[in-house]
Amino acid sequence: LQDLLDAGVEGRGVLVRSDFNVPLEDGTITDPGRIQASIPTLRALVEAGAKVIVTAHLGRPDGKPDAKYSLAPVAAKLGELLGRHVQLAGDVVGQDAEARAEGLTDGDVLLLENIRFDPRETSKDESERAALARELVALAGDDAAFVSDGFGVVHRKQASVYDVAQLLPHYAGTLVAAEVEVLAKLTEDAARPYAVVLGGSKVSDKLGVIEALAPKVDTLVIGGGMAFTFLAAQGYSVGNSLLQEDQIGVCKDLLERFGDVIHLPVDIVVGDKFAADAEAKTVKASEIPDGWMGLDIGPDSVSRFAVVLSNAKTVFWNGPAGVFEFDKFSAGTKGIAEAIVGATEKGAFSVVGGGDSAAAVRTLGLPDDGFSHISTGGGASLEYLEGKQLPGLSVLEA
Ligand code: 3PG
Repeated sequence: LQDLLDAGVEGRGVLVRSDFNVPLEDGTITDPGRIQASIPTLRALVEAGAKVIVTAHLGRPDGKPDAKYSLAPVAAKLGELLGRHVQLAGDVVGQDAEARAEGLTDGDVLLLENIRFDPRETSKDESERAALARELVALAGDDAAFVSDGFGVVHRKQASVYDVAQLLPHYAGTLVAAEVEVLAKLTEDAARPYAVVLGGSKVSDKLGVIEALAPKVDTLVIGGGMAFTFLAAQGYSVGNSLLQEDQIGVCKDLLERFGDVIHLPVDIVVGDKFAADAEAKTVKASEIPDGWMGLDIGPDSVSRFAVVLSNAKTVFWNGPAGVFEFDKFSAGTKGIAEAIVGATEKGAFSVVGGGDSAAAVRTLGLPDDGFSHISTGGGASLEYLEGKQLPGLSVLEA
């Protein structure tokens, strides 16, 4: 970003891609972390007198306007955090966006409506994406520049992330630069012992990262819904727990190859239904009763994992260990998080990746500064660690 600021942006249109894909409950933002993380770049551009046009998505609307996915709550929050009015265009690249872009003065911020209201944003057809990108560029005027600051979307080959960068002088924003610097530390020469904790519901989303990290790390702790497919691969019955039957074979193979590195829960808190008021009890991982579902890892698992984590010098955590949103099933996630905070206090380098884990940290009242870094990227941070090429990053290097 500094290169752009040095080149001078006063009076120039600067198109910024941010990731404002925040959790909402009844129209209220429950975790503004991603908006907060976007402030340094936006503030720097505002202070330098740029005419800032921000694009972002929220959720996965079907390529057409849908009030449920409006960025209105985001615009309000962004204005509050930036300490200045943020205009929200009523459309993406339509008449309202054009009129507002035209009327911008130095230091103004215009947020375009949810970029995914335009079906061309996520189109697989490059020419469609390029057409949207050209319209975005036109809004920013002659001599415009592009700043990529939505780290959470750099794994997406989409018009506002990828195609726009091909049309304009492009720069990484401070968030993207900071995230890449941190994740690079996890892939190059990470201090040992190196522990990775994976959770979340779907094992299929994490296979790539397990394949990539298992040979490089000392410990790979598995919790959350994905643990049950591994437990099934060990031959245990998992009752009504989440299970991806088609992945049992893959999990078996992973256990055969990396059994010395992979640590599975030894006890499970099961519930009689998926609800905050479910009846709960703790059972051995090998003895999940029929009719019950595993909703958290048990206390014995937490203490075993905590021992490993407290000795680690590098920790990466992605995905909650249980349904932390329900009090009765939050102890596992909290225990894991506390163990990582403890390791960080002893000097470990710890990174939390993924919206759910970051939200868990905040919901469970843990200090943000108990971790070395809380990444704003879920899928993006996992794909980075898998060693995949991220289109939104490679395009910045071109
Ligand atoms: C995320 O929430 O991980 C990013 O904002 C990307 O969203 P997407 O998975 O809908 O592309």
